[in-house]
Amino acid sequence: MDLTIIKLIHLLGFAGCLVASFLKNRILRAQSVEGRVLGQLVALDKISRVSALLIFATGFAMVAWLAKPTDLYLGSVSFWIKICLFVTASAAVLTTKPLIREAAKIGQLKPTARIRALLVFDFVAILVVAGLGRWVATTLT
Ligand code: HEM
Repeated sequence: MDLTIIKLIHLLGFAGCLVASFLKNRILRAQSVEGRVLGQLVALDKISRVSALLIFATGFAMVAWLAKPTDLYLGSVSFWIKICLFVTASAAVLTTKPLIREAAKIGQLKPTARIRALLVFDFVAILVVAGLGRWVATTLT
């Protein structure tokens, strides 16, 4: 598939992760989340998951075959910082999943300082990873 299309899907994944993370952060500012809003939180969590999978699959395809030579990426510190941050933010979001699943079962979530902090970290990390992606795309030659 053409690199432009793969990049567009990568950017679509970026947009999905960013918007879902922003809206989850907004929902979690409440003292208690229930009913329709809790349903939205669960749906946003799914959007985050699908978007992260899209990002990973397209990112991997660019590194392995479609964009610049693989060694160029593997020798770039900015690229490795991007990957480490992506893995750390994904792990942070994964630790919030059991809480959201449990809340969906009992019909209520009382957001803790921990879940709020993890999702703020996720939002900031997505922006930094995107910035590093732009940097890698434009400066590596
Ligand atoms: C939250 C996660 C991520 C976000 C938000 C993100 C976002 C971006 C953005 C905005 C660009 C710049 C595109 C352009 O200007 O042409 C980019 C480039 C790139 N991304 Fe990601 N990315 C993420 C994760 C990943 C992962 C996990 C990989 C690899 C497995 C990856 C591989 C790449 C590569 C190779 C490029 C540069 C392509 C080139 O040299 O033209 N990204 N990314």
